[in-house]
Amino acid sequence: MNDQAIGIFDSGVGGTSIWNEIARVMPNENTIYLADSKYAPYGKRSKDEIIALSIKNTKKLLELNCKIIVVACNTATTNAIKVLREQFDIPFIGIEPAIKPAALNTKTQKVGVLATKGTLSSELFAKTSDQYANNIEVIEVIGTGLVELIEEGKIQTPEMGMLLDSYIQPLIKKGIDHLVLGCSHYPYLIPVLRKMLPTHIDIIDSGEAVARQTKVVLSKNNLLNPSNQEGIHTFFTNGSLPVLQEILKKNDLTSVSKAVNF
Ligand code: SIN
Repeated sequence: MNDQAIGIFDSGVGGTSIWNEIARVMPNENTIYLADSKYAPYGKRSKDEIIALSIKNTKKLLELNCKIIVVACNTATTNAIKVLREQFDIPFIGIEPAIKPAALNTKTQKVGVLATKGTLSSELFAKTSDQYANNIEVIEVIGTGLVELIEEGKIQTPEMGMLLDSYIQPLIKKGIDHLVLGCSHYPYLIPVLRKMLPTHIDIIDSGEAVARQTKVVLSKNNLLNPSNQEGIHTFFTNGSLPVLQEILKKNDLTSVSKAVNF
């Protein structure tokens, strides 16, 4: 049991949606979040680049004495988590598109997955899709440009609305009843998506499942923080500090201690 921080990294600010769930599920845990915005989006990069960036982020979080690392980026998880687990002796939690619950609950037998090219073309995604969604139609859409707009802080803008609409309308026409958000940036688009999607289409993201899994692994390794105090949260970015601060305002926690450049 200890008060070392939970380390979380993402290609940018989007993984704060996962951080939010972690802080909600374990309010007494300290966290350190690394937004590698300078290199976003990872989805456009080669597998080797994604692995190298993920190793760099892991080393930084280990320098900061983290006790577990949450890879809060679908693209980094699907391309690099295997290598990270082989190279570093620390527990890793990854995030993958939540195909399983969508496949179990679909009535139309049609599920949409919105994710980056890097995630949709990964072996891990193909394996998960084969395993859980063999008997249904999975319609994959690459969300080109969405991460860039979120990283620029342009969420509730006409530009975002038009781009998102061009990805969503074909899915609605094809008759999906579940939309899986396969990128940790996309939960910030839920308010925009909700206005576009008919009410019978459920939106599924993986944030809460990742937070619960992190808690289970910490508990198994006897690493939970016994303190009753609210956790201390530190955020690092190598991109725009105002964009990170703006996105943090969208989350329900008030106890952000500092957001600094690295
Ligand atoms: C990206 O960096 O391309 C998006 C992050 C993600 O896949 O969750």
